[in-house]
Amino acid sequence: MENPEIIDKLSSLMKLDIDAVKAYEKALDKISEKDVHDEIARYRDDHVRHIDTISGTIKELGGTPPERTTDLRGLFLTGTSMLMGITGTEGALKALETGEKLTNKSYEDATDQPFPKEILNTLELHFRDEQRHLRFITHALDIKVWERRAA
Ligand SMILES: [Fe+2]
Ligand SMILES: [Fe+2]
Repeated sequence: MENPEIIDKLSSLMKLDIDAVKAYEKALDKISEKDVHDEIARYRDDHVRHIDTISGTIKELGGTPPERTTDLRGLFLTGTSMLMGITGTEGALKALETGEKLTNKSYEDATDQPFPKEILNTLELHFRDEQRHLRFITHALDIKVWERRAA
């Protein structure tokens, strides 16, 4: 794969992570259960790390990383309004689940492509993070974590 193509593909992934951070910030405002909030905050931080790493790689390849704009591009959440309009932990988690499914698919596709080894290693690490995020969110929705009584 030539550098321009690599830069292009990495930029797409980075934009998705930028959107993820914003969606997670919005979701965090709506999640009151402390343990869930803490976990989701860690995932937000994972996405920030993904952005930093990919941004560094793009620069090393001589490219210009996408801007970390303040408006949602709607890549992570096709219905941004979904997250704007919803209330509570359930709605926030459902919105994040939708976004994480897209992110997981994108990283899965990316790890199938002939990137240079070092970049592929990074993308596989990110993909593993994304799988962990989706697993937790899906599980939290399954057990209706917002209905759980404090032990
Ligand atoms: Fe990410
Ligand atoms: Fe994620």
